[in-house]
Amino acid sequence: MNFDKIYQYNFPTTIRFGAGSSKELPAYLIQNKLRRPLIVTDPIVAQLDFFKAIIQDLKKKDIGAEVFSAIHKNPVKSDVYKSTDVFDQAGCDVIVGIGGGAALDVARAIVLRANHREDLFKYDDLIGGDVYVTNDVPHFVTIPTTAGTGSEVGRSAIISDDVTHQKRILFSPKLIARIVFADPMLTMDLPPFITAATGMDALTHNMEAYLAKMPHPMCEGIAMQGMMLINESLEKAVNRPDLESRSKMLIGSLMGAVAFQKGLGVVHSLAHPLSTLLDAHHGLANAVTIPYGMEFNIAGFEEKFRQIARCLSLKDESGQAVVKYLFEFNSRIQIPHKLSAIGMKPDHVEALADLAIADFAHPNNPKPVTRDDFRQLYLKAL
Ligand SMILES: NC(=O)c1ccc[n+]([C@@H]2O[C@H](COP(=O)([O-])OP(=O)(O)OC[C@H]3O[C@@H](n4cnc5c(N)ncnc54)[C@H](O)[C@@H]3O)[C@@H](O)[C@H]2O)c1
Ligand SMILES: [Fe+2]
Repeated sequence: MNFDKIYQYNFPTTIRFGAGSSKELPAYLIQNKLRRPLIVTDPIVAQLDFFKAIIQDLKKKDIGAEVFSAIHKNPVKSDVYKSTDVFDQAGCDVIVGIGGGAALDVARAIVLRANHREDLFKYDDLIGGDVYVTNDVPHFVTIPTTAGTGSEVGRSAIISDDVTHQKRILFSPKLIARIVFADPMLTMDLPPFITAATGMDALTHNMEAYLAKMPHPMCEGIAMQGMMLINESLEKAVNRPDLESRSKMLIGSLMGAVAFQKGLGVVHSLAHPLSTLLDAHHGLANAVTIPYGMEFNIAGFEEKFRQIARCLSLKDESGQAVVKYLFEFNSRIQIPHKLSAIGMKPDHVEALADLAIADFAHPNNPKPVTRDDFRQLYLKAL
């Protein structure tokens, strides 16, 4: 940390955390004089009992909810345009995102588009488009149903081009939810595979944020506690879920997303191209690559790895012990050790390395990563 510099730290979101908190939604809307919510979700969550119960509870209070669920697995621009048309036509006054990271990203993109009608990708943060996010935005509420991305407390949305599938990032502090209802009951019946993949995304957020090079002692504290909570609960949440393990995973994933305002690193830059090129689930791509990315980071950062080992309750506090833990942990939650198991072929290495070196996450990695480093890491993980 440099003591003659000024840093900015943000912790702005109101979070109602705990079993049953999602039942507070109708009262919250009434209290804020909001009568016409657009509920944004995905086609699978739209069919689940807890989702239908939320809509019923709103109806009982005379709140006419409009539901939009026709979104893609990796959301695209046309999803945002179609859902914003529904927002306009139904005269909605609040956007409520209920779902995993994909649904919450679409909900957040509608929040932007409601009063910003230029081409959506004009607002792409990677080309400096955040400066055009100048108008007011509608009231925004998030209700996560996975414990992974932590998108519910985020301020960015990842939306892909319909044709090229290129991922664009919409970002603005205006896109933060006014309130999050984080209810572990909604994650109780998440299938084991999704629990494992999303849970490893959350672990990666905490571990990469802890290591990221921006000085941020507050986020480091959050990231350490996040790693501890996930270490205690992920295996149980996958194999024998109960309220305690689901609760610890949900708060651990929220903490990961709060912590990664400090930055992410090499693992997310290895993972993003796997989603772009091979349509791999974001969490799964992180889960398979995290042992390799962490091994790359050890040299020069041994003391930080000792601290990570303590968070994971390891007797051996070396960096190699952390890597061994990650492989063994993946085995216990049925995550493969090799990228070939999720569709990668030797032919993909060059294209993946091109995308990885252009990715936004690795500049915050504790040590620099070159294109050749990415090639070597993909080959090792293949
Ligand atoms: N905005 C950000 O900061 C950010 C960061 C990382 C990733 N993302 C995006 O988030 C997405 C990944 O999010 P995710 O990992 O939460 O996955 P997801 O939203 O794709 O959901 C995974 C699957 O789980 C299902 N599901 C969700 N909740 C469920 C429940 N309670 N019970 C049963 N099934 C349920 C969904 O229908 C889906 O099939 C990607 O689109 C990625 O681009 C966003
Ligand atoms: Fe992630």
